Amino acid sequence: TRIGVLISGGGTNLQALIDAIEAGRIPDARIVVVISNRKTAYGLERARAHGIPAECVLKKDFESEEAFNGAILERLKFYRVDLVVLAGYLSILSPEVVRAYPNRIINIHPSLIPAFCGKGFYGERVHRAVLDYGVKVTGATVHFVDEGTDTGPIILQRPVEVRDDDDVHSLTARVLEVEHQLLPEAVRLFVEGRLVVEGRKVRILGGSE
Ligand code: GRF
Repeated sequence: TRIGVLISGGGTNLQALIDAIEAGRIPDARIVVVISNRKTAYGLERARAHGIPAECVLKKDFESEEAFNGAILERLKFYRVDLVVLAGYLSILSPEVVRAYPNRIINIHPSLIPAFCGKGFYGERVHRAVLDYGVKVTGATVHFVDEGTDTGPIILQRPVEVRDDDDVHSLTARVLEVEHQLLPEAVRLFVEGRLVVEGRKVRILGGSE
């Protein structure tokens, strides 16, 4: 499976996926390109350090959202990507891109969807809202991307305890640790052909191990 990873920032989720593949935990999978919409994304350095082609596609270089997304789609096709992974990618993919990869785009979100998700809920803002609300449990979600924001069929979720003395940094770190386990697991299940999408739901053949 040829994987294309889209990033915007530090790329710790990308790193977790690189490490899982290099450790042989995801057979027959290769990250063939990393695309960032931020020139300064450290994830680009992570890719280059592992010999993975790393490219920037910047919105400011295009006249419209459509043209920007069209350029991303062109790069994904150029690298013959089978599976798109959004790993800390902070832009909404156009319907054109989503339609080109039906149930073949995976996103990771740092909460238990449908809580604390959707427009405006990204990065530390998610954990800020979690702490402000006072919930006792949060978590991470990996889902297929559909034309909405954080609304596609859910693949895996894992809970994370919120502690009374948490601040945004301690909670971010605890959730990130779970993300770094969950994303490679979801990619492995996809590569093994064990994810069956039935309407809104994803059935995992042979259980989620
Ligand atoms: C983090 O908020 C993470 O929860 C979400 O994207 C942000 C950056 O992740 N998935 P990364 O370190 O760039 O992978």
